[in-house]
Amino acid sequence: MPPIPVIIDTDPGQDDAFAILLALAAPEIDVLGLTTVAGNMGLPQTTDNARRIVELAGHGALPVHAGCARPLMRAPRPVPEIHGETGIDGWDWAEAAEGPAPGHGVDFIIDTVLAHPEPVTMILLGPQTNFAMALRRAPEIAENIARVVFMGGGYFEGGNMTPAAEYNILVDPEAARITLGSGIPVTAVPLDCTHNCAAPVGWSEVLARHSQPVMQACAGMMEFFERYGNAKHGTASRPLHDAVAVAALIWPELFEGRLCPVDVECAGELTTGMTVVDWLRQTGKPDNCLWLNGCSDPQAVYDRMEAALARLGQPGA
Ligand code: BDR
Ligand code: CA
Repeated sequence: MPPIPVIIDTDPGQDDAFAILLALAAPEIDVLGLTTVAGNMGLPQTTDNARRIVELAGHGALPVHAGCARPLMRAPRPVPEIHGETGIDGWDWAEAAEGPAPGHGVDFIIDTVLAHPEPVTMILLGPQTNFAMALRRAPEIAENIARVVFMGGGYFEGGNMTPAAEYNILVDPEAARITLGSGIPVTAVPLDCTHNCAAPVGWSEVLARHSQPVMQACAGMMEFFERYGNAKHGTASRPLHDAVAVAALIWPELFEGRLCPVDVECAGELTTGMTVVDWLRQTGKPDNCLWLNGCSDPQAVYDRMEAALARLGQPGA
């Protein structure tokens, strides 16, 4: 199978960093470029973080385009209490050698999708502002998008920012609604799936056994991520949400879900940002989303991820 051409839209974030590194390491994927968005941190920080990540991985030639600095209709909601002051705390990162590529992230999405000879897959790992803007500006891109895979939402698991809402959807619910209403095939990797795909207990120590700088960075970020998540959730380990989304794209045999109608609550008094999943198909609305809610073998996901990450920086990776 030829590699899947993808654009990654991201707001790093430790789990975004793992997702980007996994995508760069995976032979199943051809990363055309990254776009950044305001999310876990403000736009300048998420953009700088993305540059640091691709450079550490030995992929410094990959374009990173800064996108939208705020959600479509709402104020940004950075969360340093979750991801640390830099967003990718846990490792002493080198300064990025280069800044972002010229040109706005939304333009990059539009131009790249329209010009690419094969349909492109969009991987959305943060608030979906950039993609929604691209769809509004150039609806014709939908015809050359094979699929959207996004990390976000939660139905059976509820939310992680409010009882009803997961972070990426809560920050820009209007954008997520545009994605889900686009008619493009969408795969959602919500908390229902990621919470069934926690990293093995003590996985940071497993990563730390590898001496390459990229693995040392992963070990440090994982340790940071575990500490926050375990304290908040009272669990022995945490899922790397965004990396699970990339894993679901490249190893679909390890994941389960159902095609059904999904919408986003944008106006609820208590439920803004909730993903409303018609799991039992009671609304009669058309199916618009493959909603993943299970992972059959989390250990295999993280074993494969470790093996892939360890290839980065080696010849040909
Ligand atoms: C999502 O929110 C962010 O904090 C993470 O990077 C991930 O994309 C998890 O709810
Ligand atoms: Ca993210």
